[in-house]
Amino acid sequence: NAMFSWQRTAFHFQPQQNWMNDPDGPLFHLGWYHLFYQYNPDSAVWGNITWGHAVSKDLIHWLYLPLAMVPDKWYDINGMWTGSATLLPDGQIMMLYTGDTNASVQVQNLAYPANLSDPLLLDWVKYPGNPVIIPPPGIEISEFRDPTTGWLGPDGKWRIAIGSRVNKTIGVSLVYQTTNFTTYEKLEGVLHAVPGTGMWECVDFYPVAINGSVGLDTSANGLGTKHVLKASLDNTKVDHYALGTYDPITDTWTPDNPKEDVGIGLRVDYGRYYASKTFYDQHKERRILWGWINETDTEEDDLDKGWASVQTIPRAVLFDNKTGTNLLQWPVEEIESLRLNSTDFEEIVVGPGSIVPLEIGVATQLDIFAEFETELISNSVVEEYGCNGGAVNRSSLGPFGLLVLADETLSELTPVFFRPVNSTDGSFKTYFCSDEKRSSKAPDVCKQVYGSTVPVLDDEKLRMRVLVDHSIVESFAQGGRTVITSRIYPTEAIDGNARLFLFNNATSVNVKATLKIWELMPAFIRPFPLDDN
Ligand code: FRU
Repeated sequence: NAMFSWQRTAFHFQPQQNWMNDPDGPLFHLGWYHLFYQYNPDSAVWGNITWGHAVSKDLIHWLYLPLAMVPDKWYDINGMWTGSATLLPDGQIMMLYTGDTNASVQVQNLAYPANLSDPLLLDWVKYPGNPVIIPPPGIEISEFRDPTTGWLGPDGKWRIAIGSRVNKTIGVSLVYQTTNFTTYEKLEGVLHAVPGTGMWECVDFYPVAINGSVGLDTSANGLGTKHVLKASLDNTKVDHYALGTYDPITDTWTPDNPKEDVGIGLRVDYGRYYASKTFYDQHKERRILWGWINETDTEEDDLDKGWASVQTIPRAVLFDNKTGTNLLQWPVEEIESLRLNSTDFEEIVVGPGSIVPLEIGVATQLDIFAEFETELISNSVVEEYGCNGGAVNRSSLGPFGLLVLADETLSELTPVFFRPVNSTDGSFKTYFCSDEKRSSKAPDVCKQVYGSTVPVLDDEKLRMRVLVDHSIVESFAQGGRTVITSRIYPTEAIDGNARLFLFNNATSVNVKATLKIWELMPAFIRPFPLDDN
């Protein structure tokens, strides 16, 4: 639909048309990155879920392939839901996914490539003995889904985890053992459970190196590692993670900090983001995180547009050994291949209550690096401000930052900003926020203020990196400690009318900003030129 073409992104992955949700089974095979995704081939709203399929050499440029698998068996006829790939040491690929059966029971099924020597993995075989796992006693048949990638224990057996809920309120991750991926034994107890967090969807479980700049294979364990447990909370549609320790003997995971347990502590992304999943990229020794950016407009609009949802830019994930308390997420380095020209701004001073335009030309496809220093010019007050009030809420030390996708007259704008505060509890905190409230004049678009605190160490300046892509703003603070994705639908600040500004709405500081801003080319995302015969 040409009317909405300007709302489409230029370098984020989305299907040509129709509905997409979760990323599924990401993997690297014979030179290609594969992305599968929850896809409705018939409509721009959820339903009739199949596995869409695309491949890429660099995680940025994508080629659409034919559907990998469709719901055509009694055990997945209501939908081929989310799943994960496990690469076995002998090169086999085991794809586990949830099938919603003809009786609406959630079961786990196995599929594998028909031809491993095909780099495109076009043909998939569903294991004739499916389903391989059915809901165990005590688990609701509609609350048992999204198998993880397998990991190998010290006893030579594989484990996979599956999300669920017990007693209606306790979010859990069940563990199953297997040697062949066709028969499974449910382990007693759970990998982890957190009361009050409800149904856990799309559990992700993986190791990170405590010291090191590379990602770890999913089976890595032991000294020098921690384990990340992530759950997507069905109740709130938020992805939460926590860092902790995995015991491969008892197959349990313990959070480093029980107060920051899964679902009650850190979020993967504080914005519009759900159902994320990582995979180990053996090609570049890194762990890559995908996430689904769900829509902020109405279903009606989605049907008019003919499409819904995009995926985030794939992010490399590392443990933050400077803070020891969080992950770092960073856009994959390949995005740099989209860079055209850049503009530098040195130490621009922005006084309290002022706005400074940044003349950069095209402002719809950007990779922005900004660094801020503040200078106190009048007494600051102790106050309790977070992100909630948005960028219009003035306090002593903030907010200040960028106005992205703004039009000339500032009738539409999306502030991405820091707000340092001297809190009433005596602590000094820095919030990182994205304020969508004035992002669009369209009345029926969901607009929120997103954000959280971000750890800032003593010797650090405030730093943000912001990817702007027409209707997506992905913002990374302090090297990726806190990340916020916004899906916004400007009506004025589009194409050539989009501008970029600095703003300082603090009352007691001058802000000095230094920036490097790259214009990004669009990525090629188009059908693979397959022969029809
Ligand atoms: C998460 C989810 C999964 C499920 C899939 C269905 O968004 O609800 O739990 O497998 O989407 O499309």
